[in-house]
Amino acid sequence: LLPSRPATPHSNMAEILPSLPLETRCPPFHLRLYKGFWQPEKVLVENIPAIDAHFEPRPNDIFLASFPKSGTTWLKSLAFATLNRAVHSPFDFDHPLCRHNPHDCVRFLEAISFNETKDEPHDVLGSSPRVLATHLPYSMLPERIAGEGSMGRIVYICREPKDVLVSGWLFTKKTSAALGLDEQSYTLQEALDLFCEGRCVNGPHWQHVLEYWEESLRRPDKVLFLMYEEMLREPASNLRKLAEFMGCKFSKEEEDGGLVDAIVELCSLHKLKSMEVNRNGCNSLAVRNEAYFRKGVVGDWGNHLTPEMAQKLDKLVEDALQGSGLDL
Ligand code: A3P
Repeated sequence: LLPSRPATPHSNMAEILPSLPLETRCPPFHLRLYKGFWQPEKVLVENIPAIDAHFEPRPNDIFLASFPKSGTTWLKSLAFATLNRAVHSPFDFDHPLCRHNPHDCVRFLEAISFNETKDEPHDVLGSSPRVLATHLPYSMLPERIAGEGSMGRIVYICREPKDVLVSGWLFTKKTSAALGLDEQSYTLQEALDLFCEGRCVNGPHWQHVLEYWEESLRRPDKVLFLMYEEMLREPASNLRKLAEFMGCKFSKEEEDGGLVDAIVELCSLHKLKSMEVNRNGCNSLAVRNEAYFRKGVVGDWGNHLTPEMAQKLDKLVEDALQGSGLDL
């Protein structure tokens, strides 16, 4: 196994930014290579330093980590519904997930405006145990969140890379107009070539996965590693695992009362997709909420990638994961 994560002093990012390798072909952001990962410039200059400077972890914080397009929205809804079930019954027609997009129920750490939270950080980030999400690689999380002595727990959701690529490419094409970009000419071949070079937000994908995988082996009590495909196959048993890891195991009464199945149903793709807020709502970046809910199946890459394209990515990932014990 890799040694523990390195310390992450992110000072002087604005100064060093121009010296970092630049990638401008990945819509919608300009990316820079920093410590082995491609990140939007804004994340490096503004968000990571702000987290380092202002975020105060609590011992019972839960962090939901993922590479983009791996099932983040689903994991957010499951974790939120599970942690808050005493206050919001999943049987309730007025459940927050019926009125809000999951991304408005669980926020991304790197998208928090700490100015906004200065006065009442607890209200804005929710009450304990707080649940927050991140797309940051494990090695870029501040020491206070992910270091040896940290108390919080991390749940990682991992998805097969070809499905991640296709899901991301379609999402980018769909949402880029809202972001003021004309990306209709962004081809799948271009997206694949960049993805295979690791040149995508938080890429390389396999490196992102490996860091969390290895930490889940080193500290299984702190990092839970879930697979999107297994969650689709057995949602209830994976939900039980998630609840136990988050410290809120389902009781016998809850099990008997059908609570597990109710949460699975509430958070299912077909249910969330049918909510008015997810059919017609938008987020603060004017991205339509419906873009987060597409097919949600295993192997949709087969409808888009040629066998040659698939082989290229398969080979890369297989080589990268060799000896890790992880098979994607
Ligand atoms: P597809 O584009 O393959 O359909 P993320 O949430 O990380 O952005 O990932 C998006 C992917 O998760 C999309 O995959 C989306 O359809 C799928 N997804 C969203 N909500 C889901 C849910 N409740 N259950 C299963 N999959 C879901």
